[in-house]
Amino acid sequence: MKTNPLYHMKKTLIIANWKSNKTKSEARNWIFELSQQKFPDNLEIVISPSFTLLDFLDSFIKVNDLPFKLGAQNISSFEGGPYTGEVSAKQIREFADYVLIGHSERRKNFSENDEIIKSKIQQAQLLKLTPIICVSDLYQLENIELNENMVLAFEPPGAISTSSSDSKAEDPSIVSDFAKKIKEKADVPVVYGGSIDTSNIKSYLALDDIDGVLVGGNSLDAEIFIDLIKNAV
Ligand code: PGA
Repeated sequence: MKTNPLYHMKKTLIIANWKSNKTKSEARNWIFELSQQKFPDNLEIVISPSFTLLDFLDSFIKVNDLPFKLGAQNISSFEGGPYTGEVSAKQIREFADYVLIGHSERRKNFSENDEIIKSKIQQAQLLKLTPIICVSDLYQLENIELNENMVLAFEPPGAISTSSSDSKAEDPSIVSDFAKKIKEKADVPVVYGGSIDTSNIKSYLALDDIDGVLVGGNSLDAEIFIDLIKNAV
């Protein structure tokens, strides 16, 4: 199994979750703006677009030798074959190093349960895709064998900026407690997600047991995302 390179190099993860947004030309403008910047080597910047954009972004990153990694936002729980509409780990692995699994929007809108999530993690790890497993509490981890070849994202649904008008970033002390409990169980990188912005990013990255952030809404505009990264260091 691939060792998670970022963890052992102690890189800080900044993951952009574009959700169901961006056409190819919008993605082109965004990545072009980021390509004009120089970012510190101690950051692992992961862009998670829709499947339709993975091929284009992968080529752009390679041709321009950019320091970005790609992540998918979902994966099939099946290996491949007669599953219309599904995208398998093997297909994703051609373009991406990471995959988001069990995001609260998928649990809620697509009835993803613990069993499905467990199968998706297995599929990802078989193909050496690093799963970024999104959870809102420790119970969601009961059936998951924690190891260093995964990333855990603590994302309370009430903290997600698009979930409701009164969503609010989680208190850093709660985030810190959660990450500490995970690290007592296993040596696994933990990131926080939910209403991350340019003014609060540092307070999460400063927490001892937090290894990065997962950014939704504020990753969509290239200028805001660049500012956010600048505020992270
Ligand atoms: P948000 O989304 O940054 O817009 O709160 C985070 C997420 O859903 O991953």
